[in-house]
Amino acid sequence: MKLKKIYICSKCGSKHLKWQGQCSECGAWNSLVEDVVEESTKTSKKRAIVELSTSRFKLKEISAQNLNKISTDIKEFDRVLTGGVVLGQTVLIGGVPGIGKSTLIMEIADKLASKNLEVLYISGEESPQQLAQRAKRLDITNEKITVASITDISEIIKTINETNPNVLIVDSIQTLYHPEYPSSAASPVQIRECANELVKIAKTKNIIVFILGQVTKEGDFAGPKLLEHMVDTVLYFENDKDELYRVLRTFKNRFGTVDEIGIFEMTEKGLVSKSDYESSFLNDTPSPGASFSATYEGTRPVIIKVEALVNRSFYPYPKRVFSSIDSNYAQILLASIEKNTPVKFDSYDVYINVKSGFKTKDRALDLAVCASAVSSIKEIPIDTKTAFIGEVGMLGYVYPAIAMSKRIAELERIGFRKIVISSKTSESLKTKTEIVKIERIAELYSLLNKNRQ
Ligand code: TYD
Ligand code: MG
Repeated sequence: MKLKKIYICSKCGSKHLKWQGQCSECGAWNSLVEDVVEESTKTSKKRAIVELSTSRFKLKEISAQNLNKISTDIKEFDRVLTGGVVLGQTVLIGGVPGIGKSTLIMEIADKLASKNLEVLYISGEESPQQLAQRAKRLDITNEKITVASITDISEIIKTINETNPNVLIVDSIQTLYHPEYPSSAASPVQIRECANELVKIAKTKNIIVFILGQVTKEGDFAGPKLLEHMVDTVLYFENDKDELYRVLRTFKNRFGTVDEIGIFEMTEKGLVSKSDYESSFLNDTPSPGASFSATYEGTRPVIIKVEALVNRSFYPYPKRVFSSIDSNYAQILLASIEKNTPVKFDSYDVYINVKSGFKTKDRALDLAVCASAVSSIKEIPIDTKTAFIGEVGMLGYVYPAIAMSKRIAELERIGFRKIVISSKTSESLKTKTEIVKIERIAELYSLLNKNRQ
């Protein structure tokens, strides 16, 4: 067997014969990692461990079974899975080390086992004793959970064939290794080939497979990224383990909606669903720089708080620090305020933080970002029962957001009394909450200034 060195891009999976600083396929920098493959000869075809069925069916004759979603009884996890898991589904769960992947999956194992499903938990990271310790901490004693420390994928498949589980958990994909390939565990080839076997076993045996994957701190999905296209569902823990809440987001789902988020809190007794997480900041007293908005994640309105701190600068270049929002866009919003209102930030440092622990792509937040910045520089506290929803364009116009009625209904439920939105909103809004419509950001300025007295 002759081995050959190749380089694989950890972002897009493309193969290169020589190392280069930038991947010529996807443009990522420093993403090529070394790997070894067998020199291909006509006879060296790799043997797959699991073979897929080659039977053909008439599409019309296959009964499209109703997708029987099995609830995990963990509210926030069911939400990211749009109701639950289905037999045959492969789910990838990624996140930085220590975020709570193994804890969450142990809780899921327990819930599924209590629904009479046999669970096989394969861990290449921890010994059965360590798993037992975690289970004890979480009060999990279910007889239907079997644990094993195996890393050879052919051994795993053998164990599956012997024990016939309904649910397979692999913790984590980086520890597995395929005996037919020469490279070491966690190399792109190993990750891809092992995942390939797992996906096939899920489909042929109709079992639910959860694959856990480590993600580096820089948010680089190195390994897991390579298998996103193979699995049915991709979930990532978005934030860092130092933050109060853990946010799990759906990036891909063949059985439901994407962009759903689940919010959890790590407690002494595991990860718990935090469906009312906004209660932690809702009753703060009004202070300059704070404002509220409702973003829309997947199918869920989420109340968020924007905090801005605008202070006289003592630096040659005033500071601009933005967290959890796109910094380029935040700069544009500041420029738009300067152009369209008397507020000038030139000799001020501006710090803006979205207090939610997750990164939203929803631009409906813009209006609250502007409100917070103006409120801070002008020292005008905003009533904590007022929310701002709208996208702000470069020219200072305020544009409507999607799903306004759902956002407003949620704000109303939480107890907001006044909502500032775009005058261009065409959705008919039935609400008891006071709605203030504005066309341009200059009106936001006058509105806040009115509160000054
Ligand atoms: P873990 O689930 O092992 O993270 P991952 O598998 O993503 O690497 O654990 C995350 C952290 O949570 C770990 O430092 C210990 C802590 N923890 C709790 O605070 N409470 C608990 O009940 C458990 C099981 C863990
Ligand atoms: Mg773990």
